[in-house]
Amino acid sequence: MKKLFAFIVCVSLFIGALAQSALQFDSNAGMKSSIVLYDGSSVGYTAYERLFYVTNVEDSVYQFLNVFVPDGATQNTPIFLRTYVGGYMASPAAQPQAGDATGRALKEGYVVVIPGTRGRNSAFVADKAYSKAHKGVKEGQTIYTGRAPKAILDLKAAIRYLRHFDKDMLGNAECIITDGTSAGGAMSALMGATGNNPEYAELLKNMGAADERDDVFASICYCPIIDLEHADMAYEWLFQQTDSRQNLDDLHKSYTEELAALFPAYLESLRLKKSDGTLLTADNYLDYIKSEIIRSAQIAKNAGADIPDSLGFSFNNSAGGMFAAPINGGMPPQMQGGQLPQGMRPMRSGLRVRQVGEYIIDLDMKQYLNYVVSTQPLKGVPAFDSQIEIINRASGENDLFGDWTGNSVNFTDFTARKNNVTLSDANRQNVRLMNPMIFIDDSNTTIAPHWYIRHGARDRDTAFPVPVNFATKLQNAGKEVNFLLAWNRPHSGDYALDELFDWIAFICK
Ligand code: DHB
Repeated sequence: MKKLFAFIVCVSLFIGALAQSALQFDSNAGMKSSIVLYDGSSVGYTAYERLFYVTNVEDSVYQFLNVFVPDGATQNTPIFLRTYVGGYMASPAAQPQAGDATGRALKEGYVVVIPGTRGRNSAFVADKAYSKAHKGVKEGQTIYTGRAPKAILDLKAAIRYLRHFDKDMLGNAECIITDGTSAGGAMSALMGATGNNPEYAELLKNMGAADERDDVFASICYCPIIDLEHADMAYEWLFQQTDSRQNLDDLHKSYTEELAALFPAYLESLRLKKSDGTLLTADNYLDYIKSEIIRSAQIAKNAGADIPDSLGFSFNNSAGGMFAAPINGGMPPQMQGGQLPQGMRPMRSGLRVRQVGEYIIDLDMKQYLNYVVSTQPLKGVPAFDSQIEIINRASGENDLFGDWTGNSVNFTDFTARKNNVTLSDANRQNVRLMNPMIFIDDSNTTIAPHWYIRHGARDRDTAFPVPVNFATKLQNAGKEVNFLLAWNRPHSGDYALDELFDWIAFICK
C-alpha cells in the first residue's frame, strides 16, 4: 500500500494537463547513440524521444513515444513497434534493450518505436485546479488515468502519430509490425485486429489523436491474454480434468462445473473451421488442441529435444523403433538374438539413443495437462473475473475494467450473477473494445494481413483455447498466421528471435 502511495505521489509530481495545439515532430531533434548487442556488435541509431502522440495529454508520464532510427534506415524501412505493457499496467516509453527483440530489430536495420501507455495503475492526485474543473472530484483525490480501454487508445494514437509524420520521419508507417507479450500480446493483438474500427474513433478524437488510419501491417503476439469475457469458461473447460481441480471446496468446484459447461456454446458460436474445413465443435475440439501440442512437440523433437513419454506422448514403434535401442544398450525385442536388417551396422554400446520411435502419434491430454499444472499451480476459480463478494479477491482484470475512481468491477455475466449485479452498458462496451476476437468479422475493420502468435505449451496464464481460437479465427478470415503452442515454454515472450526475424524478413520481402 505504501509503495502504491509513493508511486501515486511520484506520478502526481509529473502530471500536468498538457494541451498542445498540434502534434509535433522535428526531424533535426534526434540524438545520436548506439547499442552493443550480445555478439559484441554495435548498432548506431538516432533517437527521437518524448514525442507526445495526442494533443490533449491526460497523463504526461506515459502518453508519448520514443523512436530509434538505426544508421542506414530509409523511408522504406519497416517499423518495429514494441509495447512493454505487462499485467495491464502502465508502461513508460522505454529504451531499446540488447536482450530482447528491440535490440535485435535495430541490428536487423528496422526502425524501433516504443510507446508509453497508461494502464490500470496509472494515477495522479487531483490538485485544487483539477477538482475545480472536474465536478465531483475532491482536492487530494486519486484519479486513475488508464482503465480500459485507455491503453489500446494510446497505442492507436501512437500509430496515427507515426502515419501523421511518415514523410518527415525515416521508416515506413505502412509497414508497422507490432510486438508484445501477455497483456502486451493482447495490445499487439488489438492493434492488429481493430485497425480503423469506428468504435474507437470518437474516443481517439477526444484525446487529440491524429486524424489518420491506425491499421498495421503485422502483429506479433506472445501469450496474448485476450477474450477476457470468455477466458474463465475456457480455463475451466480445459483444466477441470486435472487433478488440481479435484481438490477444490464444493463451492469452487461448482463454479468450475458451471463455467466449463458454458464453453461449448461459446466455441460453437464462433463457427471456427480447421484447415480442412471441418467445423470445430465441443466434440472434436480437444483433439484439435491435442494435434497442436503434438505438432509443437514433434518440431522440438526434430530439432533434437527429448520428448519424454511420461508426459503422455505415444510414439510410433515401427520404422523409428526398428532403428532404436534402449539407453542401457539392449536391443528392441524384435531384434534380440535376431539378424540386423541388411546393411545396418550394430549400434556402439553406450551411445545414447531414444527408447521410442521418431514420430509422436498420440497424446494422453489428461496426463499432459497434469504435467502443465505440475510446472505452475493453476489460477483460482474463476481465473479472470474472480471478484466474488466475501469469497474471492479481485484480479488485475477486475481493476482493468474499473473506472477513474480506482474501483474493481466484474466483466462477465457469470461472476456478476454470483454478486447479484448486472453489467452496465458502459462496462460492456469497455470489455468489447478490449477484445480483438470481436473485430475480426467486422467489415469496418482493417485487419493486419500477417500474424505471428505464440503461446507456451506449458503456459497456464490463460488456457490453450484462447490463443487457439484467435489464431484459427484469423486463419479462417484468410490472414497469414504463423501459430505455435511453443514447446515447453512457460508464460514468456520475445523468444526464438532467429525464427521471429526470419519471419519478419519473409513478410517484408
Ligand atoms: C499478465 C498475466 C496474466 O496472468 C494476466 O491475467 C494478465 C496479464 C501479464 O503477464 O501481462
